[in-house]
Amino acid sequence: MIKVTIDNILVEVEEGTTILQAARMIGGKVVPPAMCYYTKLEGSGGKCRSCLVKVAKASAKDPRPFPKLVASCSTPVQDGMVVENNISAEVCEARKGVVEFLLLNHPLDCPVCDQAGECDLQDLSFGYGLEETNTLESRREYPVVDIGPLIKLHMNRCIHCYRCVLVAEQLTKKRAHGMLYRADSMEISTFIQTSINNDFSGNMIDVCPVGALTDRTFRFRSRVWFLKPMNAHRECSKCNGKVTAWMFGNEIYRITGCKDEFGELEEFICNECRFDKKDVNDWIIDGPRKIRRQSVISGNQYENIKKGSIIHPIEGTTELQE
Ligand code: SF4
Ligand code: SF4
Ligand code: FES
Repeated sequence: MIKVTIDNILVEVEEGTTILQAARMIGGKVVPPAMCYYTKLEGSGGKCRSCLVKVAKASAKDPRPFPKLVASCSTPVQDGMVVENNISAEVCEARKGVVEFLLLNHPLDCPVCDQAGECDLQDLSFGYGLEETNTLESRREYPVVDIGPLIKLHMNRCIHCYRCVLVAEQLTKKRAHGMLYRADSMEISTFIQTSINNDFSGNMIDVCPVGALTDRTFRFRSRVWFLKPMNAHRECSKCNGKVTAWMFGNEIYRITGCKDEFGELEEFICNECRFDKKDVNDWIIDGPRKIRRQSVISGNQYENIKKGSIIHPIEGTTELQE
């Protein structure tokens, strides 16, 4: 085990752990934002620069600082390393620059975007964004594209994180989409608009950190904060059948995988569970899901439900036990 200090908090981790993983072991505000890294996707990270941190001391053997900020998702820790995240003014300044860069071509149309309320870029913009833009140039614009019958692509909102490409490559049998071109011309595209229909393609929607990939069965039906996230499960031959059912009264508006406090899926789910099972009778509803990430969704009454409540998901009510 090796010791590393992040924002003055000491943690012991195994060799090979990255700074981001070490920070996640501490948790809370010490954790840098991550827009492209995804634990379950091999080769993810190193693209968005939102996780930059300062290494104030490289290791016990070599106490010199790193000459520049590093991406915490792809930098392994060393014994005796001292890292600064939120406590470093340099990191906060750099993060502002990264957000400005990510927003150079981003429409920031949160009021009409399905991702609003659970969007990493929205959170980052709120934390670090400028009130006014510094640029006069018009934003890059693309038509909205149907990627098959279930997913819609808003390329205007894409931040080129590559997560969806990695899902297609690692979870499905045949990758049918990827990145075309380079730099600010870069765009996600299917081969001649080939639709992506395989059993796990819907996970692209869940891993997309912004509202670029949206669920066509849920689009514009509701703001996420009006819905009740419920843990639900069913017998499924393709995935483990454990999902979050987003309900309004006794209606299921959408199904997503269950996400942890870092906004990452605990398990990938199949398209049958995600898109075809929208009837409440298809599921065994286990009770309200605690949304652990800092979000408008976790600000609702479900935070305060006491142990021993009897939940009636169909009626949308709870009753306190004596
Ligand atoms: S992707 Fe996020 S930041 Fe962009 S418009 Fe949608 S909610 Fe807002
Ligand atoms: S569509 Fe979403 S997941 Fe895919 S590269 Fe763009 S931002 Fe990332
Ligand atoms: S999360 Fe580290 S570079 Fe994107």
